[in-house]
Amino acid sequence: MQFNEEALKFLNLGISAEISAYVFYKHAAAVLQDKALKETILKIAGDEKEHFLSLEDVYDRNVRSEMWAPYKDILNKPGLPDIDELIQDTHKELLAKIRKIATKRDVLEMGLSLEKEAFELYSNASAKASHPEVRKVFDFLVGFERSHVELFEMELAAL
Ligand SMILES: [Fe+2]
Ligand SMILES: [Fe+2]
Repeated sequence: MQFNEEALKFLNLGISAEISAYVFYKHAAAVLQDKALKETILKIAGDEKEHFLSLEDVYDRNVRSEMWAPYKDILNKPGLPDIDELIQDTHKELLAKIRKIATKRDVLEMGLSLEKEAFELYSNASAKASHPEVRKVFDFLVGFERSHVELFEMELAAL
């Protein structure tokens, strides 16, 4: 199966967005005192890890590439493994922002903005996808990220 440039572009953007979100949630969970929210955030980190693996799987089955291989090696491990060292170069900006996260509101606001970005990315990707398999993956992710957006909106409203 051959994907066009557009599909590959969105797959790459998605993979990168999932890695960022995963790393953010792992750090965010560490600063949260609220036990219930901490658990929710770790569950979302697990969702983003699965999203990374689904996208990487589609990418890998269609384009044999070493591009995401180091991330896959680590994220394929059970639980929520650490990938900080690996992301130093590619996600410097994100790590800088994460260091400023101190309160529950900071976590919720940054989470909401990451989820909105992901939702828009996949909505756009789905609308432009001509390949049914690719569209199916993006549609699945649209639904998932919508539920993440709603979750953060609810938590922020309850503050
Ligand atoms: Fe995701
Ligand atoms: Fe998400």
